[in-house]
Amino acid sequence: MVIKKIAILFSGTGSNLEKLLQNLHHQTFEHCTIEVACTICNRPLAEGIEKSRAFGIEPIIIDHTTFTDRDSFDKALVKTIQDSGAELTVLAGFMRFLTPYFTHHIQAINLHPSLLPLFKGSDAIKESFASPIKIAGISVHYVSEELDGGAIIAQRSFTKTESMSYEEFEEKIHALEHTLLPETVINLLNRRNNDR
Ligand code: GRF
Repeated sequence: MVIKKIAILFSGTGSNLEKLLQNLHHQTFEHCTIEVACTICNRPLAEGIEKSRAFGIEPIIIDHTTFTDRDSFDKALVKTIQDSGAELTVLAGFMRFLTPYFTHHIQAINLHPSLLPLFKGSDAIKESFASPIKIAGISVHYVSEELDGGAIIAQRSFTKTESMSYEEFEEKIHALEHTLLPETVINLLNRRNNDR
């Protein structure tokens, strides 16, 4: 069975990191076994660190505040990912702008809490809740130099009802994220295997 390695990058709570580890790490699918080669976090106190440890993976901390510029931070990220042997990198709540150096060297996908191209940026959930648009959702897309602008791979949507509170709305978004991101990774890696 072919082993496909992934890297997971996160910055905060790590609920998506946890779902990826639960659903993918050391799991065998139709055409491959997936292994999480490394988890990388840019914030030394992030909650997600313990979630990674619970799966026996000590996160690699690359603290962006210790670098003088974005390029040197991204170079360290790229080297760590390449050294891990990961062929796909998953951004699961990784809150950093990435430079062209990163996007040229690493194939990565990102999870975003809106139906892109609507509501790019860090306030997507708030903006989507406040908007008159009745359909909301989430996207998984390739990472490009444009913030939240790479090709869309998968989306899930739901209808925003009048009675929905902001908390319920946010909960719905996260529930969809927790299934769509692992599913998308599986689909991408299995398809790659078939292509060969
Ligand atoms: C998610 O809502 C994701 O869409 C966004 O950041 C959040 C990360 O949440 N990019 P968590 O850290 O995985 O719980």
